[in-house]
Amino acid sequence: MGNTATVLAYHTRSKHALHRYAAGPGTLDWDAQPKAFRDWAGAQQVALPRDVVVPGISWGELPAARSSTPLNTTNLGSLLRLCVGLTAWKEHAGSRWSLRAHPSSGNLHPTETWLIAHGVAGLEDGLYHYQNLPHALERRAWGSATQTTGLWLGFSSIHWREAWKYGERAFRYCQLDLGHVLAAVSYAAALHGWRPRLLHMDTVAVASCLGLDRAADFSGVEGEEPEMIVVLEANAVSPTNMNWKWQHWAGKPSLLDARPLYQWPVIEEVAEATRGRPPIADLLTTANSSSPHKNDGDIPASQVILQRRSAQAFDGHSVMPKAVFKQILGSLLPGGSPVWNLWPHTPRVHPVMMVHRVADVAPGLYAMPRSDVARTSLRTAFRDTFPWQPADPELPLFQLVVARAGKTARTLSCHQDSAAQCAVTFMMVAEFAAPLAADPVAYRHLHWEAGMLGHVITLEAESAGWRGTGIGCFFDDAVHEVLGLKDDRFQVIYHYAVGMAVDDPRLATLPAYD
Ligand SMILES: Cc1cc2nc3c(=O)[nH]c(=O)nc-3n(C[C@H](O)[C@H](O)[C@H](O)COP(=O)(O)O)c2cc1C
Repeated sequence: MGNTATVLAYHTRSKHALHRYAAGPGTLDWDAQPKAFRDWAGAQQVALPRDVVVPGISWGELPAARSSTPLNTTNLGSLLRLCVGLTAWKEHAGSRWSLRAHPSSGNLHPTETWLIAHGVAGLEDGLYHYQNLPHALERRAWGSATQTTGLWLGFSSIHWREAWKYGERAFRYCQLDLGHVLAAVSYAAALHGWRPRLLHMDTVAVASCLGLDRAADFSGVEGEEPEMIVVLEANAVSPTNMNWKWQHWAGKPSLLDARPLYQWPVIEEVAEATRGRPPIADLLTTANSSSPHKNDGDIPASQVILQRRSAQAFDGHSVMPKAVFKQILGSLLPGGSPVWNLWPHTPRVHPVMMVHRVADVAPGLYAMPRSDVARTSLRTAFRDTFPWQPADPELPLFQLVVARAGKTARTLSCHQDSAAQCAVTFMMVAEFAAPLAADPVAYRHLHWEAGMLGHVITLEAESAGWRGTGIGCFFDDAVHEVLGLKDDRFQVIYHYAVGMAVDDPRLATLPAYD
């Protein structure tokens, strides 16, 4: 089977349907959950400063260009806290779990963070693994002849952390999580005046630079799938391709699950079929601080990031002001958020919404194509009875159906109440068959883009006193039926709910770090 066919087959078999869920574990032993934190025994540990050094910048000021903070461990510690660090511990009935700056399906956090530093004050040059638990670095390798000064973040996925709970669908969740991570990096970098850019590197090269292809080191423990490397440009522009060949290596990764009960070989198959490079930038996006949708909120951006949580339930009655709705939608368009500086590509994922409770917006189904091309192609692919009524003078927002859609949203989202009790349920519809035929690696990138959209929604909502939650569980083809999609030109790949959250008073919240 060719790679595109492998990906299409994976996507089809990992769909949830009204009559059957994608293959997953029959039973879950919660006490045998894979460990949330990996450490590298034998690698030298370097504690990072924990202070956030940019507390004064408000959410509204975030898109404005600012001068770079110097490349040193203080600023690095601050950046990592705001994108991949712990943000809180939760406690209930004797259980304790941590939360991070980015959400993750099932809070399982398959993404591992790597760091390459050259010329960062206070840090010896080398490759490091980031340890979220103590907020520290573990020095994994050093001695590369590559001498470019700078700071790079690398990411890998440990599929088993997600597959343990979600079975075959887990690969999709790992990729959506990465989208959230990329968006989180974009916001944190913007706050520190560093420009993040994805390196145009092949997955195999990423594996070699991060040491993920050193089979002997991973013998007997879970492997890590290479994903991407992001450069954080301070003042100078860095090359878009790098090649670190480390002379010295240290450390051995810890085992996360001593007794895995199931195996999902299809995940490794789709991972292999989707290795490749990120696309080349084809769009100039610069966060637009004078956008008409600009959020004037003066809440500190670092506070928005650190207080972000996923809503576990919504109140089912609060009406979202139209200005907040428009702010969220505007930030999803190219240039609407600093996040799109890291993804300067023609959008291929488009939000379709079931609006339940937004002031002065009739409840119903809406679509917001994020490119001119999609405006036409979505219209051709969707049900031909949709009127595509322009719904806002400032946004490419179209009304497709006027109806109360709470029950439909709940059913489509695996019967989850949050999809009905929120103010708006988003369905991320991706251009699918064409990008995959051109390059199967697009399967990862479409999920990254959808995850980035989710992260933008969640932080914009949070900044305005509202809250979001990812919904990875939805009935794929039932959504397609509602939209009238008859083939795989488009596929829904993520749902997101946003509304007024109801907190669970039984949960105690403790600080992330003492
Ligand atoms: C890709 C993805 C899919 C998710 N799917 C669901 C879902 O179907 N239902 C749900 O209640 N929460 C879902 N969540 C929310 C997570 O459970 C939540 O992010 C996680 O528990 C961590 O909590 P936090 O976001 O408050 O840090 C999802 C999150 C992500 C990133």
